[in-house]
Amino acid sequence: MMDPAHTSVLLHECIEGLAIKPDGIYIDATFGRGGHSSYILNALGEHGRLIAFDRDPAAIEAAQKFVNDPRFTIVHSAFAQMDEVPLTAGLIDQVDGVLMDLGVSSPQLDDSSRGFSFLRDGPLDMRMDTSTGVSAEQWLAHADEQDIAQVIKEFGEEKFGKRIAHAIVNTRVHTPINSTLQLAAIIAEAMPVKDKHKHPATRAFQGIRIYINSELDQLRDGLKAAVKLLKPTGRLAAISFHSLEDRMVKRFMREQSKGKNVPHNMPILQAEIDADKVLKLIGKAIKPSDEEVSNNPRSRSSVLRVAEKL
Ligand SMILES: C[S@@+](CC[C@H](N)C(=O)[O-])C[C@H]1O[C@@H](n2cnc3c(N)ncnc32)[C@H](O)[C@@H]1O
Repeated sequence: MMDPAHTSVLLHECIEGLAIKPDGIYIDATFGRGGHSSYILNALGEHGRLIAFDRDPAAIEAAQKFVNDPRFTIVHSAFAQMDEVPLTAGLIDQVDGVLMDLGVSSPQLDDSSRGFSFLRDGPLDMRMDTSTGVSAEQWLAHADEQDIAQVIKEFGEEKFGKRIAHAIVNTRVHTPINSTLQLAAIIAEAMPVKDKHKHPATRAFQGIRIYINSELDQLRDGLKAAVKLLKPTGRLAAISFHSLEDRMVKRFMREQSKGKNVPHNMPILQAEIDADKVLKLIGKAIKPSDEEVSNNPRSRSSVLRVAEKL
């Protein structure tokens, strides 16, 4: 049932991490092409339930092939609101597992008309949800140079953010920037030194994409929403693809598993400290095997973290 257009990463590790109960209620917050959803459905019995989310209309379209399964429902929504949509609002403290497989899918990257790729020419869109919001083209046409620099530096972790922003603003005065290869060329030209192993536009594209889709705000709110939905013993499994995401997931899980922060020597009972603990970490960060990376090079930066609600 897996769509060859997207090879799911850390599949077995996710299913194991979620410790699927056949009658459980599960949420796949990032349906994509349904690789993980398909595995979750296989592990569920006839009374199990899977609710999947995606903000991309193309993913919702792809999910239509699953909808004859009465255990499955697809929701077109960003996952930051996964505890608020009518279908899940009544499931607070009832869900057995939530999976978040972050970032973009291969079909989003490979379809040049989506504007995510710096290798294929296409319109400079970069929205995951093409039904709403502002495209990269629209944003780059009007944003302040400083804001562009900051986005590229902060979300792309690109040290030449300022130079790149300057080149973008200098170009847009005389030529509209509306294609991916055009932007990639402007970026490449602005870089004083180039990394031998990476396309010069890799980081800047990542930064702009993260900004256009508010990916880090989504992640912060999505993690909180997921924990609200989970029942005690319910599992949260999150796969990150770059350090900004992984840092956020790691910190969130760690903080939620630490309990009350009290200064040393405070006369406070351990039970009181523990009462504030929301999550328990399950194992360490999991990375793909060498075999997975050689079969699917896009998996190389993935990291899976799992936690259980107390
Ligand atoms: C890496 S892919 C998921 C692939 C999927 N696990 C599979 O096996 O086919 C990420 C998907 O999550 C979606 N997505 C990313 N951020 C989202 C968000 N904040 N809310 C909802 N969907 C999101 C993207 O549109 C994309 O389809």
